[in-house]
Amino acid sequence: MKDFQTEATTKPEIKDFFDTASNTISYVVKDPNSNSCAVIDSVMDIDYAAGRITYDHADNIIAYIKENGLQLEWIIETHVHADHLSGAPYIQRELGGKIGVGANITIVQDTFGKVFNEGTEFQRDGSQFDRLFEDGDTYQIGSLTVTTLATPGHTPACMTHVVGGSAFIGDTMFMPDSGSARADFPGGDAETLYDSIQKILSLPDDTRLFMCHDYGAHGRDIAWETTVAEQKAENIHVGKGKSREEFVDFRTVRDAELDMPKLIIPSLQVNMRAGNLPPKDEDGNQFLKVPVNAL
Ligand SMILES: [Fe+2]
Repeated sequence: MKDFQTEATTKPEIKDFFDTASNTISYVVKDPNSNSCAVIDSVMDIDYAAGRITYDHADNIIAYIKENGLQLEWIIETHVHADHLSGAPYIQRELGGKIGVGANITIVQDTFGKVFNEGTEFQRDGSQFDRLFEDGDTYQIGSLTVTTLATPGHTPACMTHVVGGSAFIGDTMFMPDSGSARADFPGGDAETLYDSIQKILSLPDDTRLFMCHDYGAHGRDIAWETTVAEQKAENIHVGKGKSREEFVDFRTVRDAELDMPKLIIPSLQVNMRAGNLPPKDEDGNQFLKVPVNAL
């Protein structure tokens, strides 16, 4: 693996935005040497019962970027989220920037293109995104170099973004007292997730790790930042050198007990399109589908 320690001299400035409806943490990552920034894992608000879409969370991020005179270079999705809708296209329309996701988005599109019976007009080649990241790719946020690590297992397209001693790990791990992400969605795999987590834990011990979600385990305050050292020592699913076998056994039993996320059906349909709603019909109306007994 590359020596990330030597690249950690320039540290990003990181601003968090917590979404109370989906327990998602979005980030603005700024280059300290310029006005360039990136947004990681934005949210589009939905009242699913009413079929209503709004943009309060994304508007907060847009306002922050405008107020600080920042230039948005990238809008990153760590993976195709199953529990919230992405605000990426809305933010892109307002501020520009390129939308990036892991190259295995094509696998996710193929899987859920079938689940939602999308026609041939739904492209499964990732072309809805501006950039598809492979393992070990790099991109710039001004003077900051970000390296992408493929960390599949929760989903096939999960990527970790490593920049200046910090890593945005999506849903691979949660805070140490909350463990790891489920691996039972179509295309998920517990063994693969274990290997991806080991890859993250092989980063330097003082690497700051930023979560995509937190649920305030056991009544504590919401938290989203830890370190490699803390995860190795304390993570309840993988810490203290838990073996691959122990992890896979635990994950398999646990995942079988979990309900589907409340927003999985709208989330997947929108997020596999890079955050766009399905195309309008001839009258200009938009619809989301509910596949029966398919998930
Ligand atoms: Fe997720």
